[in-house]
Amino acid sequence: MKILAIDTSCDETSAAVVDGRRVLSNVIYSQVLLHKKWGGVVPSIAKRAHEERIDFVVDEALKKSKFQISNVKHSFDICHLDFDIKNSMSKIDYLAVTYGPGLAVALEVGIKKVKELSKKYNKKIIPVNHMEGHIYSCFTQNSKGNPKREFTFPYLVLLVSGGHTEIVLWKDYLDFQIIGKTTDDAAGEALDKAAKMLGLGYPGGPVIERLAEEAGNVDPYKFPRPMRKSGDLNFSFSGLKTAFYYFLQKMPEEEKNKMIKELVSSFQEAVFDSLLIKTEAAIKQIGIINLVVAGGVAANRELRKRMKNLAKKYKGSVVYPPYKYLNGDNAAMIGVAAFFKAKAGIFVKHIEAFDRIPRLSL
Ligand code: KG4
Ligand code: ZN
Repeated sequence: MKILAIDTSCDETSAAVVDGRRVLSNVIYSQVLLHKKWGGVVPSIAKRAHEERIDFVVDEALKKSKFQISNVKHSFDICHLDFDIKNSMSKIDYLAVTYGPGLAVALEVGIKKVKELSKKYNKKIIPVNHMEGHIYSCFTQNSKGNPKREFTFPYLVLLVSGGHTEIVLWKDYLDFQIIGKTTDDAAGEALDKAAKMLGLGYPGGPVIERLAEEAGNVDPYKFPRPMRKSGDLNFSFSGLKTAFYYFLQKMPEEEKNKMIKELVSSFQEAVFDSLLIKTEAAIKQIGIINLVVAGGVAANRELRKRMKNLAKKYKGSVVYPPYKYLNGDNAAMIGVAAFFKAKAGIFVKHIEAFDRIPRLSL
């Protein structure tokens, strides 16, 4: 089953062609450089960039999936290009798109494009929750079908991105239940904000990871671990962020500069400790030892190591997205999630009424 998938939930314009779990092509046009100087994603800039790039990204995904007639190379000849796309589209079974959660003005661009393709080529649309996509990113394969991971339900999923921090009980393909979540900021958001306070740029996660590694992932400052004793599986990062802010205010500039690696390392440890404490509590409470870790923050080597050790302690297993590009936002994971939804017969019924849901939950 071949699916053309689109994701424009935040600051990456992405399209992919998948065949079941196999990714035939995945194109990501990142907007990071456009937002960097503002220290975060600016909705109006995101909207315009998605609008400017979406056609190109979709065409590229179709071309790269090798469905195009390869001997026709008139990429700049509109007539021929149109013919090529028509030919590629005839090999696509369904369309898929992220309809939430995410930035409303960004989601709208992908939805508009998918509706246009649906009308023009008479294809059904599969609506995909962006977080469902992140979960399936761990079971996404390359074009040769690797890695050959089997599903061994149930799983405990730790979803950690810039907008979400959730523990999800994943009982079966389309059966998700959120059992813990952040009450304020997401883990990635906390890392981004800490980096911003120190003028380290956006996104903060990767730069903090690198500096913390250089410091040996030490924890000299012991910042608070909010809600560690709350008795539930929820998280909170805004108190930690505030504590970090006031700590920096009191620190002489010279010392701050000298200790910057140790500072961010300690901050990262506090965030990861919170994630580990609640994941371990979930393992004990629910009794599931197979873990899935996904979302942008899942790229972090220190977090991966710590989650691996946690799974080992309980004689369980842990899976992460198998390829680097699958950690961040991408349309391949949306296509794979869509494959399982299509098998269950989940399609958009009324295309005209189909709309984005920015605060969509799993
Ligand atoms: O999943 P994602 O790309 O977008 C959302 O759906 O939010 O996640 C982005 C988040 C950002 O907060 C970014 O700082 C964080 O993931 N991130 C990382 C790393 N790479 C990206 N956090 C920690 N370590 C990383 N290597
Ligand atoms: Zn995401």
